[in-house]
Amino acid sequence: MRTIYVIGIGAGDPELLTLKAIRALQRVDVVVALDKGDAKNDLLALREQIVRAHAPNLPIVTVEDPPRDRNPENYRAEVRRWHAERARLLAQAIREHSTDSVAFLVWGDPSLYDSTLRIIERMQRHEGLESTVEVIPGVTAIQLLTAEHKMLLNRIGEDIHVTTARNLAKASPKDRRNCVVMLDGGAGWLDGPTHNTYMWWGAYLGTEHQVLREGYICDIGEQVAELKQQLRAEHGWIMDIYLLRELEEDAP
Ligand SMILES: C[S@@+](CC[C@H](N)C(=O)[O-])C[C@H]1O[C@@H](n2cnc3c(N)ncnc32)[C@H](O)[C@@H]1O
Repeated sequence: MRTIYVIGIGAGDPELLTLKAIRALQRVDVVVALDKGDAKNDLLALREQIVRAHAPNLPIVTVEDPPRDRNPENYRAEVRRWHAERARLLAQAIREHSTDSVAFLVWGDPSLYDSTLRIIERMQRHEGLESTVEVIPGVTAIQLLTAEHKMLLNRIGEDIHVTTARNLAKASPKDRRNCVVMLDGGAGWLDGPTHNTYMWWGAYLGTEHQVLREGYICDIGEQVAELKQQLRAEHGWIMDIYLLRELEEDAP
């Protein structure tokens, strides 16, 4: 039976793969990757660079991401249809290009805001792809953010809330006390900060374009929003992540 390796490749730095991930890359028949088109091509190139650093001869088969209606009448039905089509195309590529094993490279860690495991489950259930799955953890963008800012994710005994920019607006004041925000297409930090909201922000973490900023939202919020727009225009895409924390004292 085929083995599908779901390999967390870290969030941008080829040196942050685990030994287990490297060994899996050196063992599999092929990597299958989704090509999400234009703006995300840089990301695909980064993935290829990471594979090449550790397994120079490993073939990478790319499957074009099927088109998706961004303004459907029935959002859920459209997402279901899109996921089903993705699963069909990927299962087809796996059958064509691998006999024993195939790898999916997951940005960061497969457990955090990623649909690869869901797609594989769908391929097994609905596309009849017989396979066993091995998941290899990776370093997440959250860990890169804290490492690059040399800081702790939580204060003593305090909870950590991880959310998306879309859900930040609904977060309770308690959750916002110490809150990691991902998947922000805009500048979610500008919504509802207090005078004491401090932000540690990072974009393109682990890559040559890495940018870091930190400060009270009331001091740096607007500047970082402008910077984000400039960076997106310059590179054609951006990935950023931030920790918001309510500070009682003056020092972060
Ligand atoms: C679809 S989620 C994937 C998260 C990934 N599985 C992980 O473990 O980090 C993508 C989001 O992760 C964050 N992210 C991932 N890589 C990043 C990087 N190198 N720099 C900044 N943020 C990053 C951004 O918030 C981005 O919108």
